[in-house]
Amino acid sequence: MFDRFLRACRREKTDVTPVWFMRQAGRYMAEYRALREKHTLLEICKTPELALEVTLQPLRLGVDAAILFADILLPLEPMGAPFSFEKGEGPVIHAPVRDRADIDRMRVFEPEEGLGYVLDAIRLIRRELDGKTPLIGFAGAPFTMASYLVEGGKSSDYFRTKQLMWGDPASFSLLMSKISEVVRRYLHAQVEAGAQAVQLFDSWIGALSPEDYRTHVAPHVKNILQSIETTGVPVIHFGTNTSTLLEAQRDCGGTVIGVDWRLPLGEAWKRIGYDHAIQGNLDPLLLCAPPDVAAARARAVLAEAAGRPGHIFNLGHGIVPQTPVDHVKALVDVIHAYRHEGAA
Ligand code: CP3
Repeated sequence: MFDRFLRACRREKTDVTPVWFMRQAGRYMAEYRALREKHTLLEICKTPELALEVTLQPLRLGVDAAILFADILLPLEPMGAPFSFEKGEGPVIHAPVRDRADIDRMRVFEPEEGLGYVLDAIRLIRRELDGKTPLIGFAGAPFTMASYLVEGGKSSDYFRTKQLMWGDPASFSLLMSKISEVVRRYLHAQVEAGAQAVQLFDSWIGALSPEDYRTHVAPHVKNILQSIETTGVPVIHFGTNTSTLLEAQRDCGGTVIGVDWRLPLGEAWKRIGYDHAIQGNLDPLLLCAPPDVAAARARAVLAEAAGRPGHIFNLGHGIVPQTPVDHVKALVDVIHAYRHEGAA
């Protein structure tokens, strides 16, 4: 049971397909909402005992991995860009980073100093899990993080980020380099603190053409991933809307490539290559559909993997807050009950 997820990352045979969910801890769970009545999201992230509590909440659903409770934006504060989560608006960066002077002011910090509370949470969670469930650490990838910094919050078109990228490529590259070095050190520190796998979230990378990805993003992501892969810990390289970027993304690194639902999993895996593991790729909104509809679509995803070792079942993106908890539990059971045709 314990190593099902880690074995799949290494493309080793498992008894059944392992499953975990992005955003498996969050507002769709009553116990999370109850804790949020008393604490802000940032308070939970900054208090290791609370981060531990939330990390453990979804484990009762039977998932095969725990993911550290934190947020990809946490490194922005010690870099010099404080932010808050505003109700209904999502993250708001207090002073967006828009020109060379702003970028020059951004700090590259030591993780134990700037994000010691996350590393404390990892150590605490590992002690608590005591070998029962593997723990995944994570960080945001440089483009996704830069987009929040430059836009000042969420964006639908990344207007300012793209104008900086094309209009002042040297400054954009400096910003990407600073974020990459922060993320590289942070992921190494997470592994040292006890993370048994790490996921790099490049959630908004699908906004770029393959040419812009290769020119302005890939070298930075490569620096991070190739450095982390030397630790021997599996690295999940995740993006959404990556149908035109899969090969370029794979070329940057990652033991496992995380894909969304826009391509059939079998097609994505063939393009990535069977020398990589794959994670995905059910549309998260299917968890709000009738459970028999979701179950049929989940079995179709499993059939796409064709019994090859190295598939980790997940959604193509995070669980949405409207999701009924019992649908999530039922889906985990469907995945664990599935047997590939011809398998012993
Ligand atoms: O997956 C997990 O269970 C671990 C925890 C986790 C959170 N954020 C907690 C969180 C993880 C892995 C993240 C990653 C994250 N954060 C990403 C990349 C993944 C993705 O979804 O694309 C991004 C882009 C962020 C930035 C972020 N954090 C946004 C845009 C928002 C607001 C959107 C929203 O849903 O309200 C957050 C807030 C946030 N981070 C919540 C959670 C559970 C929302 C719940 C709350 O307000 O209490």
